[in-house]
This record gives sequence, C-alpha cells and structure tokens, in this order.
Amino acid sequence: MLNIAVLVSGGGTNLQAIIDAVENNSLPNVNISCVISNRKDAYALTRATEHNIPALCIRPKDYADREAYSEQMIKTLSEYGIDLVVLAGFLVVLPASLVKAYEGRIINIHPSLIPSFCGDGFYGLKVHEAALQRGVKVTGATVHFVDDGTDTGPIILQKAVYVEENDTPEILQKRVMESAEWIILPEAIRLIAEGKVKMHK
Ligand code: GRF
Repeated sequence: MLNIAVLVSGGGTNLQAIIDAVENNSLPNVNISCVISNRKDAYALTRATEHNIPALCIRPKDYADREAYSEQMIKTLSEYGIDLVVLAGFLVVLPASLVKAYEGRIINIHPSLIPSFCGDGFYGLKVHEAALQRGVKVTGATVHFVDDGTDTGPIILQKAVYVEENDTPEILQKRVMESAEWIILPEAIRLIAEGKVKMHK
C-alpha cells in the first residue's frame, strides 16, 4: 500500500481527482493518509473532510522560522507513515530540509508543458496568462519529481491541450485541469505505486 499525503492551498480539484480515482478503484494500492494545507480556508480541506480523510492545517507563519516549519511537516508526514508527498496546488516553497527528507518521494503538478511557463512567479492563472500572451497553440500539464529547484525536477508525465480561439485564462485553465491535470496526476501516482516509476539521482 502506498500511503500518500496531498499538500494543498486552494480549491482542491486535483485532490478531488485523486480521491475519485481511489474511490473508483483506479488506484487500488494507494491510500490518502492525510491532506495538509497552509491555509485554514482552503476548500481542499473541506473535500478531504467530506471523504473522511484527515485534513490538517500547518501554517508556516505559526513557526519561528522555516526550519521549525519543516521539522513539524516532517514529523507529521512521519506520523502518518507517508511514502509519497503529492503537491496539488501547494503554494509554499518547500524548505530544503523537507525536500531532502523525502528526496525522490515528492511530486508536483504544474499547469504547463515544462520547461515552458514555469519557475518562480508562474502559478495558477499566471501560467495561462503567459501562454496566451506568448500565443502558443498547444499547452498542457506536467507531473514531475520535486528537487531543490522550482519546477525543475525530472518529468514523469505530460499531457498536451490545444489553445482555442477566444480562450481566456480562466477558460484555458479549466480545460487544462479537466483534460490534463486531473488525468495525469492520478496516473503518475499509479505508476509510482506499481513501482513502474522512480526518481534516479
Ligand atoms: C492547479 O492548476 C495546479 O496545476 C496548480 O495549482 C492549481 C491547483 O488547483 N499547481 P486545485 O487546488 O487542485 O483546484
């Protein structure tokens, strides 16, 4: 059984995709042990609670410094016996000590085809605004391992999505979520759970 923690900051539609996949038996050997947010009001926490998944709020600002925050996160992940940490719209930059503690066992979903439109400052709608601004005809989503950079770890899966006439950032974001993110994130978790994918240094 692969015990996963899903780290969230917002609406939790990617978390919902993972929950749905577990509940419809697409992820038979995966258990969502806990959901952790840095924000008390993240709707993702409500989604977890509605599915009887422990929903925790651990806020960096409640700790003296990033190292103390990291220690609490590592302690909590250990208490829940976490094998894989899934960042699903998590907007906190992970402390290096946390990345090191779970090296090769943290994945992230990013709403573009990395290396396009990624790195510092590229999150949420900003990614789609940049894609429309540049005029790309194809965008998409990427699942990658997390290393000590921003969106720089080894790529696991990508899925392309066409940009359409009259797309707004909101319309494009919705299409990328529905047609790419919500498909490749559960799929990446399945591949890892089945031992078919692992990160090599
Ligand atoms: C998604 O677009 C994801 O790609 C990005 O942040 C957003 C989170 O959305 N990292 P949700 O909270 O999963 O609905």
